[in-house]
Amino acid sequence: MISNTQILFCLILLSLCTIQVLSADSKSSNPYILNCGSSNGGTDSDGRKWSSDSQYISGNSTTARAQYQDPSLPSEIPYMSARIFSSSSSYKFSVSPKQRLWLRLHFYPSSYNSLDKSDSYFDVTANGFTLLNNFSASITAEALTQAYIVKEFSLIPVESGNLNITFTPSSSHKKSFAFVNGIEVIPMPDIFHSANLVGFDEQTVDVQSSTLQTMFRLNVGGQYVGPANDSAGLNRTWYDDSPYLFGAAFGVTSEAQKNVSIRYSNNVSESIAPVDVYSTARSMGPDPEVNSNYNLTWVFQVDANFTYVVRLHFCELQVTKVNQRVFDIYVNNQTAQPAADVIAWTGKIGVPLYKDYAAFVKDKAGDDELWVALHPSVSMKPEFYDAILNGLEVFKINDTSGNLAGPNPVPSQMLQDAEAAAAAENNPSPPAAGSKNKGLVIGGVTGGAAGVVVAAAVGFVVYQRKKRSHESGVGAWLPLYGTSTTLTSRKSGTNTGSTSHVSSLAAGLCRHFSLSEIKHGTKNFDESQVIGVGGFGKVYKGLIDGASTEVAIKRSNPSSEQGVNEFQTEIEMLSRLRHRHLVSLIGFCEEEGEMILVYDYMANGTLREHLYKCNKPPLSWKQRLEICIGAARGLHYLHTGARYTIIHRDVKTTNILLDENWVAKVSDFGLSKTGPNLHQTHVSTMVKGSFGYLDPEYFRRQQLTEKSDVYSFGVVLFEVLCARPALDATLPKEQVSLADWAMHCQKRGTLHEIIDPHLKGTSINPECLKKFAETAEKCLSDHGLYRPSMGDVLWNLEFALQLLEHPDGERVVAEVRANDAYAMHNATLAIEEKSTTASVPVDELTNSTVVFSQFVNQQGR
Ligand SMILES: *[C@@H]1O[C@H](CO)[C@@H](O)[C@H](O)[C@H]1NC(C)=O
Ligand SMILES: *[C@@H]1O[C@H](CO)[C@@H](O)[C@H](O)[C@H]1NC(C)=O
Ligand SMILES: *[C@@H]1O[C@H](CO)[C@@H](O)[C@H](O)[C@H]1NC(C)=O
Ligand SMILES: *[C@@H]1O[C@H](CO)[C@@H](O)[C@H](O)[C@H]1NC(C)=O
Ligand SMILES: *[C@@H]1O[C@H](CO)[C@@H](O)[C@H](O)[C@H]1NC(C)=O
Ligand SMILES: *[C@@H]1O[C@H](CO)[C@@H](O)[C@H](O)[C@H]1NC(C)=O
Ligand SMILES: *[C@@H]1O[C@H](CO)[C@@H](O)[C@H](O)[C@H]1NC(C)=O
Ligand SMILES: *[C@@H]1O[C@H](CO)[C@@H](O)[C@H](O)[C@H]1NC(C)=O
Ligand SMILES: *[C@@H]1O[C@H](CO)[C@@H](O)[C@H](O)[C@H]1NC(C)=O
Ligand SMILES: *[C@@H]1O[C@H](CO)[C@@H](O)[C@H](O)[C@H]1NC(C)=O
Ligand SMILES: *[C@@H]1O[C@H](CO)[C@@H](O)[C@H](O)[C@H]1NC(C)=O
Repeated sequence: MISNTQILFCLILLSLCTIQVLSADSKSSNPYILNCGSSNGGTDSDGRKWSSDSQYISGNSTTARAQYQDPSLPSEIPYMSARIFSSSSSYKFSVSPKQRLWLRLHFYPSSYNSLDKSDSYFDVTANGFTLLNNFSASITAEALTQAYIVKEFSLIPVESGNLNITFTPSSSHKKSFAFVNGIEVIPMPDIFHSANLVGFDEQTVDVQSSTLQTMFRLNVGGQYVGPANDSAGLNRTWYDDSPYLFGAAFGVTSEAQKNVSIRYSNNVSESIAPVDVYSTARSMGPDPEVNSNYNLTWVFQVDANFTYVVRLHFCELQVTKVNQRVFDIYVNNQTAQPAADVIAWTGKIGVPLYKDYAAFVKDKAGDDELWVALHPSVSMKPEFYDAILNGLEVFKINDTSGNLAGPNPVPSQMLQDAEAAAAAENNPSPPAAGSKNKGLVIGGVTGGAAGVVVAAAVGFVVYQRKKRSHESGVGAWLPLYGTSTTLTSRKSGTNTGSTSHVSSLAAGLCRHFSLSEIKHGTKNFDESQVIGVGGFGKVYKGLIDGASTEVAIKRSNPSSEQGVNEFQTEIEMLSRLRHRHLVSLIGFCEEEGEMILVYDYMANGTLREHLYKCNKPPLSWKQRLEICIGAARGLHYLHTGARYTIIHRDVKTTNILLDENWVAKVSDFGLSKTGPNLHQTHVSTMVKGSFGYLDPEYFRRQQLTEKSDVYSFGVVLFEVLCARPALDATLPKEQVSLADWAMHCQKRGTLHEIIDPHLKGTSINPECLKKFAETAEKCLSDHGLYRPSMGDVLWNLEFALQLLEHPDGERVVAEVRANDAYAMHNATLAIEEKSTTASVPVDELTNSTVVFSQFVNQQGR
């Protein structure tokens, strides 16, 4: 009955979508948002409607579905369907002859119709310009460690009114084919004019009549702004700038206070950049001495032999007078702008403004880079020695032959080694054969059952979804193009001779501290600062950034070799993983043989110290439940949210930390292991972990799966319920192991006898307790196969919380979900998960008003 109604609802929902798509099509007006290779389009996870591309295509093409859905794809649409070309074919769009156009091309390199993605090389031309040449989406994605690629171009107006986008398989490769998953053609206002050529007085570059490619678009000092939150309907994506900062000099970030409102002027309209971009900024920091000795620098990898336009977005958020904050702007080590003073330009605080500078990037040995640097204009004797930047875009300009295409990037040696190692480890047979099998196996599993249901589920939950992308794995940390893989080699000078243990990619994603900074912040590792001791070494409470930020500093025992591996693992893992329920790694220090990790400080310590033996007030049942849900989310993200499954391997109550708001964060990835890769279901490895929490199956067979974490989490659930240690040798023999004893009691129906006395008589509702205990019991199943996934555990705990909050009310709804939607809730959870995910930018904790009060009134020198 019920599920019939549900199905009906889905059908209605889907048909509504279809109707809307059709009506959008029939107007044949811009914009065009096409899900290539699909017959009827669909809605993506942002709620955006994509239509079929079939009426715009001419020439020989076929359609296909990807056989494997990478977990880091933001949404099935448009990536899971593709249009494939074995010979030159074109899309034709009728467009307004006067308007510039955004053109976005979406590529998801995968197995299509058993074609090998590494055979695909192709050219794309539009409007007489070469956009891509000998392009390999698969090499590009590998080099950028992204699952999918989005290329964005800004085309000059097409006078004929007929835009022609042509895909041509490269003739220099046998079996070559072209493909595309999504195309967007969106009319845009004329936001480009001319830009001063840096290093040449009075010489300008005509940007207005050029076709551009967006290389980077950053919300400096702010967060990811997705297409739905961009201004003026331009649907741009703005990324966090921190991966591009050079060296350890991150400056500080700030946000507009309530009394500062952003007001666009006649010169700078909302279409230039959204309020979210202008209302956050990065500046240099509170110490004038420090600031006058460093440059706040961003480094971008680009293609040589092109001219680039650097667009800097400014909006003053703190000072109000001329000559308070004056700075020089350098592009590629040349002065682009001396004595920039945002207030002098705009007249007022809170008024947005942008400046464009053009620079030609020559071909030279080594990496081709674009440097943007800010430095206080000391000679102007400003009140504060500081600089500010709110947003940054880099566009590539077509060359004289109308070309925009550069060579394919070369995957770094580290990535190639990692891929080779993964292939060898997961696949004793030759790797080439294996990589094809993967796709087929997964395709069989996901293709049939999940496909339809997922589509419907997405429809239900889109509204829950907010941010995406840069939380969903490594990929999206690295926008559009380029990597920061070379940062370590540049920094290696500070490593006093020894080779770095940290891969350059990871180093590029998190902050590098000097030993003196760390010593300063911990009063030279004073014992009074110690807040914990573990196998790895001691943990200190410390202060960084001029004492404005509290951090936890983990210093390793310099001698242990295990330490080196775990240090490395933890940086590799944590620097890529950002999630509300994982402890954030802020940075690391590797100097003079020291291996030091710097984390967010967790004010409320470990979960365990709030359960027993610590004289802290007992947590309420609801608090406990919410903490378990948070930890489950963190683990669920580790298992499914990142590009590879990550198995924590040491889940226990001392590795679940609590911040000042009692938000649970999973910590300690030192033992983590990248998990089964697709077709292989376990990882053989030395048994590690903590007694009392150890999965018996793992112990017996030495095979690690994510279900080992589920087992340990089951122990955690009973620990939370019973408030006793996982192992307690002082108790009678049968009670020593909590896992065994609780299971025994649960089976005999005497669990209520062993629950925490503090919970008795309080509002622990029996239904809720039952659900909770059942969930814990399932986690402790002897065989991994019978244990729920972390996603199921999470769902059950949330259900338990609902039972607590609405003992009678909304249960019916929940039961419906529970019964009919096993497959669906996986999809639902995956999406909800992302909505709660938040990347914590390094400096978010820095309160800008505090920082600002610390400015020293500089009299100048
Ligand atoms: C399309 O491709 C198929 C197979 O590659 C070929 O047989 C057919 O002649 C082509 N059609 C056109 C119009 O080129
Ligand atoms: C579209 O472009 C291709 C390649 O430049 C060309 O062969 C084709 O004739 C063009 N079609 C139209 C309608 O302009
Ligand atoms: C694109 O912008 C329009 C106008 O702001 C907005 O309605 C739409 O939701 C945006 N598209 C996406 C994908 O969010
Ligand atoms: C982004 O837009 C969504 C709705 O379109 C809104 O709920 C959300 O708060 C916005 N996020 C930010 C950071 O403005
Ligand atoms: C905004 O308020 C802060 C204190 O909350 C004050 O220091 C600052 O001067 C105010 N800024 C403006 C522009 O009024
Ligand atoms: C850049 O131009 C120079 C001179 O024309 C040429 O030798 C070099 O190969 C070009 N580099 C690239 C990456 O195209
Ligand atoms: C800028 O200068 C730094 C050293 O100060 C150098 O490493 C870098 O390569 C230079 N950048 C460019 C684009 O020339
Ligand atoms: C900042 O960058 C400019 C241009 O590359 C360079 O001349 C200057 O020495 C740098 N200053 C510092 C303190 O690094
Ligand atoms: C706005 O544009 C006008 C004309 O281009 C220029 O004179 C004026 O200085 C600009 N105002 C600002 C605040 O940039
Ligand atoms: C880009 O192409 C346009 C049109 O072909 C041309 O006028 C312009 O000079 C080109 N830009 C550059 C920097 O060569
Ligand atoms: C095409 O790209 C591949 C991979 O980057 C490269 O090996 C090959 O030489 C390129 N072919 C041509 C014709 O440029």
